Amino acid sequence: MTRSVLFGVFVLMILVACQPSQKPTNDIDQKVNDLLSKMTLEEKVGQMNQYTGFYDITGPAPADGDAKNKYDHIKSGLVGSMLNVRGVSEVRKMQQLAVDSSRLGIPMIFGFDVIHGHKTLSPIPLAEAASWDLEAIEKSARIAAVEATAEGLNWTFAPMVDISRDPRWGRVMEGAGEDTYLGSKIGVARVRGFQGDDLSAVNTLAACAKHFAAYGFVEGGRDYNTVDIGTATLYNVVLPPFKAAIEEANVRTFMNSFNIINGIPSTASNFLLRDILKGEWGFDGFVISDWSSGAEMIAHGYAKDLEQVAELAANAGSDMDMESYSFVKHLVNLVNSGKVKESVVDDAVSRVLRVKFELGLFDDPYKYCDEEREKEMIYHPDHMAAALDMAKKSIVLLKNENALLPLSKNQKKIALIGDLADDKDSPLGNWRMAGESNTAVSVLEGLQEFGADVSFAEGVKLVTGPTAFPIELEVNTTDKSGIKEAVKLAKKSDVVVMVLGEHGLHSGEARSRSDLNLPGLQQELLEEVYKVNQNIVLVLMNGRPLTINWADENLPAIIEAWQLGTQSGKAIAQVLFGDYNPSGKLPMTFPRNVAHIPVYYNQFNSGRPAREGSAIFWPHYMDQSHEPLYPFGYGLSYSTFDYSNLKVNVTGPENVEVSVTVQNTGDVDGEEVVQLYIHDKVASIVRPVKELKGFNKVMIKAGDKAEVNFTLTKKELGFYNGTGEFLFEPGEFDVMVGSNSTDGLKSSFEL
Ligand code: BGC
Repeated sequence: MTRSVLFGVFVLMILVACQPSQKPTNDIDQKVNDLLSKMTLEEKVGQMNQYTGFYDITGPAPADGDAKNKYDHIKSGLVGSMLNVRGVSEVRKMQQLAVDSSRLGIPMIFGFDVIHGHKTLSPIPLAEAASWDLEAIEKSARIAAVEATAEGLNWTFAPMVDISRDPRWGRVMEGAGEDTYLGSKIGVARVRGFQGDDLSAVNTLAACAKHFAAYGFVEGGRDYNTVDIGTATLYNVVLPPFKAAIEEANVRTFMNSFNIINGIPSTASNFLLRDILKGEWGFDGFVISDWSSGAEMIAHGYAKDLEQVAELAANAGSDMDMESYSFVKHLVNLVNSGKVKESVVDDAVSRVLRVKFELGLFDDPYKYCDEEREKEMIYHPDHMAAALDMAKKSIVLLKNENALLPLSKNQKKIALIGDLADDKDSPLGNWRMAGESNTAVSVLEGLQEFGADVSFAEGVKLVTGPTAFPIELEVNTTDKSGIKEAVKLAKKSDVVVMVLGEHGLHSGEARSRSDLNLPGLQQELLEEVYKVNQNIVLVLMNGRPLTINWADENLPAIIEAWQLGTQSGKAIAQVLFGDYNPSGKLPMTFPRNVAHIPVYYNQFNSGRPAREGSAIFWPHYMDQSHEPLYPFGYGLSYSTFDYSNLKVNVTGPENVEVSVTVQNTGDVDGEEVVQLYIHDKVASIVRPVKELKGFNKVMIKAGDKAEVNFTLTKKELGFYNGTGEFLFEPGEFDVMVGSNSTDGLKSSFEL
């Protein structure tokens, strides 16, 4: 053998030695595999089982979930996770059972619905979405994570990234509204906020993209109902926020949805979980069922019993069972009888263990259990300040005739009217699981703190009877006794601020409504007050778009204040008196009436596009305008913004640069959300009349101009066909840049 041949063999040996081995090279994968190899089948199945701690349950109380049994199961290593256990001492006690008593001492992961803040409550997610401020939204989630982890938690069942076009569905309060582009950006911001840069840090927790998938499309907006949508809608509207949560923020867990898709419950959908999520998207975190969504497959008519539930869910790729007990009861037998392969269980368990390793739970199972941190972090002043900032940013100014707002700081004789005006609970909204009742700053308190000359009258009670979660609300429809006093007060006042809308528990899970008018006697109160004083500012407090045509037609000023959390009243006062210039924009269209629904901006043209006022043969109502009350993206400011100089420049076969000049033509500094919409004019599947594909929130000083730039690439210009293939089709596009989805400068380009 010559020297050069010898050298060649040597190099080859080194190259072979350096080839990536079949075994995992990643440290965590190695640890997962080592642990897995030591586990019995029972212990593996245990990791796929989650129990509730009966703390703050959100679903029907489990029939056979007695605590004693659960504790024994934890000690036997049959529980991988608990939900609804919070507080350092509680979590520590539970964790100790798993770590000290089970054979392998595998720590549990503690999940909780940390939806909009934890103890310090930020605005409901729909309100935060109205800020279009990704940085603020990320910060809000970060703070929620800091407080939740200080209470022992390490996993949140958030963000909900379900797109929904139906305000009857009470859960719209929990999402980012109707638009996929905005919803994807916000979902990513929330995951980043929760998970931070380092999942193993003591103040970050695992996020959960939910509900996979299409839960926002429940028929008639009735929660838990059937979903029946086409695949083009699934791929283009429903799935992108989930995909973005993985690709752009590495979300560590997913939650199944309650609904069926194409006749198959999501919890057992191979198509969703195996083909798309774990196949095409390469997701390596784990999937949790929704609350007993496994067992509900029996009622759906998809499984005959709990054993079949376990078989179908595990085989389809659901990795952990929340409150069905199907895995813990049946999975071992199913593996032994060959109906579920052990490799399926191994894969699920590896995923769960991987996230636990990433969180650092094996290094220190009690890392989130620090009493000092708990005391220090809950209601930290910085969190309060951030919640106030977020609340202000979430407010949308809907109407402001003759610049009635902002009120002068010397404004005399303000009448504050409405049950919600001194309500310290409703502004906390729904899904404030760890929140303490009656801890919001009410509007009355906010105005008083501001030193306003304000007198209050309730007018009518909104709700009678108990309001504790999860009972039905009893809305007051009979007692009008307070109207007189409110009218009297309005009569002698210079300006009337009326706080009307929904009770905090009117929206949220299981809170669907078929009527979106102001509930109860509030409309009557409003009209009675209007008879004596028309100088009314309506402050809406609600968890979803409402139908407020009368108010829009008659009142000079309307503020959408949603449910703004702990600092609600302060934020509203600052906006009313102009200390903060509102900049929010609606993340959901406001319909004119319920029959209008679904009404959303990115609809299709149909063969007979909208032509208001012309002959009758087009898709419209003969008794109602075709236009929504307020369009998606709409919101005013105390400044005015003028758009000019729209430039569109095709810079490559797949690249377009767009710029516009925006001038603040008002007297005060203000922020504007500059929005870009496109319309792909001819495509192999028809495209919506408009699609948001860019936005930019800019602060512009009074009188100043700003140039705002956008770049469109294949990603923004392409779309999915009905089989999930991403297509980019050159051709003609319209582009619009403006201050909402209906007003803007228009141009077009061709690729
Ligand atoms: C909801 C989920 C939630 C779970 C746990 C269910 O009823 O649909 O979104 O995370 O309860 O509380």
